Amino acid sequence: MPKRKNFEIYNESTGLFCDYEEYQRFTQLYSAAIKQLTTRFDILSCECETYDAHNPIHHIDSRLKSIPSIVEKLSKRGYDISAKSAIEHLNDIAGLRVVCSYIDDVYRVADMLLRQSDVVLIERKDYIQNPNYNGYRSLHLDVEIPVFFSNSTEYVTAEIQLRTVAMDFWASLEHDLRYKSEKNIPGELCKEMLACADEIAVIDAKMQEIYKKIHAL
Ligand code: GTP
Ligand code: MG
Repeated sequence: MPKRKNFEIYNESTGLFCDYEEYQRFTQLYSAAIKQLTTRFDILSCECETYDAHNPIHHIDSRLKSIPSIVEKLSKRGYDISAKSAIEHLNDIAGLRVVCSYIDDVYRVADMLLRQSDVVLIERKDYIQNPNYNGYRSLHLDVEIPVFFSNSTEYVTAEIQLRTVAMDFWASLEHDLRYKSEKNIPGELCKEMLACADEIAVIDAKMQEIYKKIHAL
Protein backbone atom coordinates (compact mmCIF):
# COMPACT_ATOMS: atom_id res chain seq x y z
CA MET A 1 0.00 0.00 0.00
CA PRO A 2 1.66 3.31 -1.01
CA LYS A 3 2.22 5.70 1.89
CA ARG A 4 0.81 8.82 0.24
CA LYS A 5 -1.69 11.06 1.92
CA ASN A 6 -3.72 11.50 -1.24
CA PHE A 7 -3.95 7.75 -1.79
CA GLU A 8 -7.51 6.71 -2.59
CA ILE A 9 -9.08 3.30 -2.86
CA TYR A 10 -11.34 2.88 -5.83
CA ASN A 11 -13.62 0.16 -7.03
CA GLU A 12 -14.03 0.06 -10.80
CA SER A 13 -17.78 -0.25 -10.82
CA THR A 14 -18.80 1.59 -7.68
CA GLY A 15 -16.32 4.43 -7.19
CA LEU A 16 -14.49 5.69 -4.13
CA PHE A 17 -14.27 3.63 -0.94
CA CYS A 18 -12.07 5.86 1.19
CA ASP A 19 -8.89 7.90 1.24
CA TYR A 20 -5.61 6.70 2.68
CA GLU A 21 -6.04 8.16 6.18
CA GLU A 22 -9.49 6.65 6.50
CA TYR A 23 -8.14 3.35 5.25
CA GLN A 24 -5.41 3.36 7.89
CA ARG A 25 -7.90 4.17 10.63
CA PHE A 26 -10.31 1.54 9.32
CA THR A 27 -7.79 -1.30 9.19
CA GLN A 28 -6.35 -0.32 12.55
CA LEU A 29 -9.77 -0.46 14.13
CA TYR A 30 -10.62 -3.95 12.89
CA SER A 31 -7.11 -5.37 13.28
CA ALA A 32 -7.23 -4.24 16.90
CA ALA A 33 -10.58 -5.99 17.39
CA ILE A 34 -9.15 -9.21 15.92
CA LYS A 35 -6.08 -9.01 18.16
CA GLN A 36 -8.19 -8.37 21.20
CA LEU A 37 -10.65 -11.19 20.58
CA THR A 38 -7.85 -13.61 19.70
CA THR A 39 -6.15 -12.73 22.99
CA ARG A 40 -9.38 -13.23 24.91
CA PHE A 41 -9.76 -16.72 23.43
CA ASP A 42 -6.07 -17.49 24.05
CA ILE A 43 -6.48 -16.55 27.69
CA LEU A 44 -9.56 -18.77 28.05
CA SER A 45 -7.74 -21.58 26.29
CA CYS A 46 -4.71 -21.34 28.64
CA GLU A 47 -6.97 -21.20 31.68
CA CYS A 48 -8.89 -24.31 30.65
CA GLU A 49 -5.70 -26.17 29.86
CA THR A 50 -4.26 -25.32 33.27
CA TYR A 51 -7.29 -26.01 35.45
CA ASP A 52 -9.51 -28.42 33.50
CA ALA A 53 -6.89 -30.58 31.79
CA HIS A 54 -9.00 -30.14 28.67
CA ASN A 55 -8.51 -27.33 26.23
CA PRO A 56 -11.82 -26.75 24.41
CA ILE A 57 -10.14 -24.67 21.70
CA HIS A 58 -8.35 -26.62 19.01
CA HIS A 59 -7.20 -23.57 17.03
CA ILE A 60 -8.20 -20.06 16.02
CA ASP A 61 -8.15 -18.47 12.57
CA SER A 62 -8.86 -14.86 11.80
CA ARG A 63 -9.12 -12.59 8.81
CA LEU A 64 -9.73 -8.99 7.97
CA LYS A 65 -12.25 -8.74 5.13
CA SER A 66 -10.56 -7.43 1.99
CA ILE A 67 -11.63 -4.07 0.57
CA PRO A 68 -12.89 -5.66 -2.71
CA SER A 69 -15.07 -8.09 -0.67
CA ILE A 70 -16.38 -5.23 1.45
CA VAL A 71 -17.20 -3.16 -1.63
CA GLU A 72 -18.88 -6.15 -3.28
CA LYS A 73 -21.03 -6.88 -0.24
CA LEU A 74 -22.06 -3.23 0.21
CA SER A 75 -22.99 -2.88 -3.43
CA LYS A 76 -24.91 -6.21 -3.46
CA ARG A 77 -26.96 -4.95 -0.52
CA GLY A 78 -27.48 -1.52 -2.05
CA TYR A 79 -25.53 0.46 0.56
CA ASP A 80 -23.21 3.41 0.00
CA ILE A 81 -19.67 2.46 -0.87
CA SER A 82 -17.60 4.06 1.88
CA ALA A 83 -15.69 3.13 5.00
CA LYS A 84 -18.40 4.79 7.11
CA SER A 85 -21.08 2.71 5.43
CA ALA A 86 -19.06 -0.50 5.91
CA ILE A 87 -18.64 0.23 9.62
CA GLU A 88 -22.38 0.89 9.91
CA HIS A 89 -23.70 -2.06 7.89
CA LEU A 90 -21.22 -4.94 8.01
CA ASN A 91 -20.56 -7.07 11.07
CA ASP A 92 -17.97 -9.33 9.51
CA ILE A 93 -15.12 -6.99 8.58
CA ALA A 94 -13.27 -8.57 11.50
CA GLY A 95 -13.79 -12.33 11.41
CA LEU A 96 -12.63 -15.03 13.79
CA ARG A 97 -13.06 -18.76 13.53
CA VAL A 98 -12.74 -20.64 16.77
CA VAL A 99 -12.37 -24.34 16.07
CA CYS A 100 -13.19 -26.50 19.07
CA SER A 101 -12.62 -30.17 19.81
CA TYR A 102 -16.15 -31.26 20.72
CA ILE A 103 -19.70 -29.94 20.26
CA ASP A 104 -20.10 -29.09 23.96
CA ASP A 105 -16.88 -27.07 23.76
CA VAL A 106 -18.42 -24.80 21.14
CA TYR A 107 -21.22 -23.73 23.50
CA ARG A 108 -18.89 -23.57 26.48
CA VAL A 109 -16.44 -21.26 24.71
CA ALA A 110 -19.30 -19.10 23.39
CA ASP A 111 -20.70 -18.75 26.94
CA MET A 112 -17.27 -17.91 28.36
CA LEU A 113 -16.88 -15.06 25.87
CA LEU A 114 -20.43 -13.75 26.26
CA ARG A 115 -20.07 -13.67 30.05
CA GLN A 116 -17.36 -11.01 29.69
CA SER A 117 -18.96 -7.79 30.85
CA ASP A 118 -17.89 -5.61 27.92
CA VAL A 119 -18.93 -8.01 25.16
CA VAL A 120 -22.26 -7.13 23.57
CA LEU A 121 -24.04 -9.81 21.56
CA ILE A 122 -25.56 -8.34 18.40
CA GLU A 123 -26.73 -11.52 16.71
CA ARG A 124 -26.52 -15.26 17.39
CA LYS A 125 -27.13 -17.81 14.65
CA ASP A 126 -27.04 -21.44 15.68
CA TYR A 127 -26.42 -23.51 12.58
CA ILE A 128 -25.62 -26.49 14.81
CA GLN A 129 -29.12 -26.71 16.28
CA ASN A 130 -30.54 -25.64 12.91
CA PRO A 131 -28.11 -26.63 10.16
CA ASN A 132 -28.13 -24.62 6.94
CA TYR A 133 -30.11 -26.12 3.99
CA ASN A 134 -26.83 -27.55 2.63
CA GLY A 135 -25.69 -29.16 5.89
CA TYR A 136 -23.43 -26.31 7.08
CA ARG A 137 -22.97 -26.31 10.85
CA SER A 138 -21.45 -23.61 13.06
CA LEU A 139 -22.42 -21.23 15.82
CA HIS A 140 -22.16 -17.62 14.66
CA LEU A 141 -21.88 -14.77 17.11
CA ASP A 142 -21.81 -11.18 15.94
CA VAL A 143 -20.42 -9.19 18.85
CA GLU A 144 -19.37 -5.68 19.69
CA ILE A 145 -16.33 -5.00 21.87
CA PRO A 146 -14.67 -1.81 23.04
CA VAL A 147 -11.23 -1.08 21.63
CA PHE A 148 -9.16 1.42 23.59
CA PHE A 149 -7.02 3.91 21.68
CA SER A 150 -4.91 6.80 23.01
CA ASN A 151 -7.75 9.32 22.95
CA SER A 152 -10.88 7.36 22.30
CA THR A 153 -12.80 4.17 22.88
CA GLU A 154 -14.27 2.68 19.72
CA TYR A 155 -16.99 0.03 19.72
CA VAL A 156 -16.12 -2.47 17.02
CA THR A 157 -18.14 -5.39 15.66
CA ALA A 158 -16.77 -8.80 14.74
CA GLU A 159 -18.21 -12.06 13.49
CA ILE A 160 -17.10 -15.14 15.38
CA GLN A 161 -17.72 -18.57 13.90
CA LEU A 162 -17.42 -21.37 16.42
CA ARG A 163 -17.42 -24.95 15.22
CA THR A 164 -15.88 -28.35 15.88
CA VAL A 165 -12.91 -29.75 13.99
CA ALA A 166 -15.35 -32.05 12.20
CA MET A 167 -17.67 -29.19 11.19
CA ASP A 168 -14.62 -27.23 10.06
CA PHE A 169 -13.45 -30.13 7.91
CA TRP A 170 -16.74 -30.19 6.01
CA ALA A 171 -17.20 -26.39 5.84
CA SER A 172 -13.68 -25.75 4.56
CA LEU A 173 -14.00 -28.26 1.74
CA GLU A 174 -17.54 -27.20 0.90
CA HIS A 175 -16.46 -23.56 0.80
CA ASP A 176 -13.92 -24.44 -1.88
CA LEU A 177 -16.27 -26.74 -3.75
CA ARG A 178 -19.38 -24.68 -3.79
CA TYR A 179 -19.80 -21.59 -1.65
CA LYS A 180 -17.42 -19.55 -3.79
CA SER A 181 -18.05 -21.43 -7.01
CA GLU A 182 -19.57 -19.74 -10.02
CA LYS A 183 -20.63 -23.13 -11.39
CA ASN A 184 -24.13 -24.52 -11.11
CA ILE A 185 -23.69 -27.68 -9.09
CA PRO A 186 -26.11 -30.53 -9.96
CA GLY A 187 -28.73 -31.39 -7.33
CA GLU A 188 -27.35 -34.92 -6.97
CA LEU A 189 -23.98 -33.60 -5.82
CA CYS A 190 -25.65 -31.15 -3.42
CA LYS A 191 -27.51 -34.10 -1.91
CA GLU A 192 -24.24 -36.02 -1.57
CA MET A 193 -22.59 -33.10 0.20
CA LEU A 194 -25.58 -32.79 2.52
CA ALA A 195 -25.34 -36.53 3.26
CA CYS A 196 -21.61 -36.11 4.05
CA ALA A 197 -22.41 -33.26 6.46
CA ASP A 198 -25.01 -35.42 8.21
CA GLU A 199 -22.61 -38.39 8.48
CA ILE A 200 -19.91 -36.15 9.89
CA ALA A 201 -22.42 -34.82 12.44
CA VAL A 202 -23.14 -38.38 13.59
CA ILE A 203 -19.41 -39.06 14.03
CA ASP A 204 -19.00 -35.73 15.84
CA ALA A 205 -21.70 -36.73 18.34
CA LYS A 206 -20.08 -40.18 18.78
CA MET A 207 -16.67 -38.64 19.47
CA GLN A 208 -18.29 -36.37 22.04
CA GLU A 209 -19.79 -39.42 23.80
CA ILE A 210 -16.46 -41.29 23.70
CA TYR A 211 -14.75 -38.25 25.21
CA LYS A 212 -17.32 -38.11 28.02
CA LYS A 213 -16.91 -41.82 28.78
CA ILE A 214 -13.12 -41.59 28.87
CA HIS A 215 -13.31 -38.41 30.95
CA ALA A 216 -15.53 -40.21 33.48
CA LEU A 217 -13.13 -43.20 33.90
P1 GTP B 1 -23.58 -11.72 6.81
O1 GTP B 1 -24.10 -10.37 7.06
O2 GTP B 1 -22.58 -11.81 5.70
O3 GTP B 1 -23.07 -12.39 8.05
O4 GTP B 1 -24.77 -12.51 6.23
P2 GTP B 1 -25.57 -13.64 6.93
O5 GTP B 1 -25.79 -13.28 8.36
O6 GTP B 1 -26.74 -13.99 6.10
O7 GTP B 1 -24.52 -14.80 6.80
P3 GTP B 1 -24.17 -15.88 7.90
O8 GTP B 1 -23.90 -15.22 9.20
O9 GTP B 1 -25.19 -16.92 7.83
O10 GTP B 1 -22.82 -16.45 7.27
C1 GTP B 1 -21.67 -15.69 7.30
C2 GTP B 1 -20.46 -16.54 6.99
O11 GTP B 1 -20.62 -17.89 7.47
C3 GTP B 1 -20.11 -16.73 5.55
O12 GTP B 1 -19.35 -15.66 5.07
C4 GTP B 1 -19.30 -18.03 5.56
O13 GTP B 1 -17.99 -17.79 6.04
C5 GTP B 1 -20.02 -18.82 6.61
N1 GTP B 1 -21.07 -19.65 5.98
C6 GTP B 1 -22.40 -19.43 6.00
N2 GTP B 1 -23.06 -20.37 5.32
C7 GTP B 1 -22.11 -21.23 4.85
C8 GTP B 1 -22.16 -22.42 4.07
O14 GTP B 1 -23.20 -22.89 3.65
N3 GTP B 1 -20.97 -23.02 3.80
C9 GTP B 1 -19.79 -22.55 4.25
N4 GTP B 1 -18.69 -23.25 3.95
N5 GTP B 1 -19.70 -21.43 4.98
C10 GTP B 1 -20.84 -20.77 5.27
MG1 MG C 1 -23.90 -13.14 9.74
